Amino acid sequence: MTTTAAPSRGTTPDPAGYQEPAPTPLALLLLGRDADPASERGVDCPGDLPAASDPDLVARARAAKAALGDRVFILGHHYQRDEVIEFADVTGDSFKLARDAANKPDAEYIVFCGVHFMAESADILTSAAQQVILPDLAAGCSMADMATAEQVAECWDVLTDAGVAGTVVPVAYMNSSADIKAFTGRHGGTICTSSNAQRALEWAFEQGSKVLFLPDQHLGRNTAVRDLGFSPEDCVVYNPHKPGGGLTADQLRAAKMILWRGHCSVHGRFSLDSVNEVRERVPGVTVLVHPECKHEVVEAADLVGSTEYIIKALDAAEPGSKWAVGTELNLVRRLAKAHPDKEIVFLDRTVCFCSTMNRIDLPHLVWTLESLVEGRVPNVITVDPETEKHAKAALDQMLALP
Ligand code: 13P
Ligand code: SF4
Repeated sequence: MTTTAAPSRGTTPDPAGYQEPAPTPLALLLLGRDADPASERGVDCPGDLPAASDPDLVARARAAKAALGDRVFILGHHYQRDEVIEFADVTGDSFKLARDAANKPDAEYIVFCGVHFMAESADILTSAAQQVILPDLAAGCSMADMATAEQVAECWDVLTDAGVAGTVVPVAYMNSSADIKAFTGRHGGTICTSSNAQRALEWAFEQGSKVLFLPDQHLGRNTAVRDLGFSPEDCVVYNPHKPGGGLTADQLRAAKMILWRGHCSVHGRFSLDSVNEVRERVPGVTVLVHPECKHEVVEAADLVGSTEYIIKALDAAEPGSKWAVGTELNLVRRLAKAHPDKEIVFLDRTVCFCSTMNRIDLPHLVWTLESLVEGRVPNVITVDPETEKHAKAALDQMLALP
């Protein structure tokens, strides 16, 4: 891939049609420039992080990558910054990247430019001889953190007490911790992604009569209602912060889909107002959203699909066509730049980066690569063997879906 200087972060409007704010202490934190002791992992990057203002960052990244050669393989999720994507050997959604990592058995180091659960999945799917590295350990996922192993074990007890556990098949979104994937494997379930959620649910309903879908209630509801023809009333929401999930045993017995009360803080921000507003602002626009958006947003949109689907839809779109896209802003901005012959705007008027994805920036990547060149392996993500065994069973089930 060619390399260019990092994009400037000024106040100029960009092709995705929004105005980026001037830096503030909070904005700097969101952009991954500082420690975040209140975050779920609460760790800053150890060692000497290069200054973001260092004019040699691009050259340093190039030199370190060249020195490592085939020993390193860099994966870049679609939501990563341009300055990081420039150095990715492959880009993709979380599922594709996990498979890409598994298909690269000769690379000693897999540098995962994404978030923690993705690096865990890559560790599960790669060999013991390979090391998976997350350039900033504070790059977690707020949605994945909404379902802890203890909460999910308690939920299973609630389902058991209601007499329904024997009929429930767990389906866990890729965006979940290794512990939750292991729970899913232990109980005969499968992992899914936003691109295969329909097939995963169809498979699950061949194994049992109910699904426990976690942790994203929106992907679960949208898939059950839009793709499987269920009614919203077939779905109940299990709230881990309430006794018994806030549900009665009768409600659990009647439900087909038991949705975990989790959501993506980025996609959850799009609203029906955003859709109505953009239709007025851009006459003739096609609204294209990710299935992590709320059900009412998905219902009001013209097209719904995973990150890979969104990219393909815009690649195939007619020149001159107009699009409003409801997914993470780094990706929408990149797509707008890549298709100057089409009008591509961000669905919402306010900035909507994924703050944890954005923590991985060029200084963190340079620090990681230079550490490897010097013989230090930083920020290794390791899943313990017992968790890995069960999580792999659930991931393998996904890979075996028809
Ligand atoms: P995909 O990687 O499956 O597109 O999921 C979107 C997302 O939110 C990643 O964190
Ligand atoms: Fe998690 Fe949402 Fe960010 Fe993806 S976009 S990493 S689901 S918070």
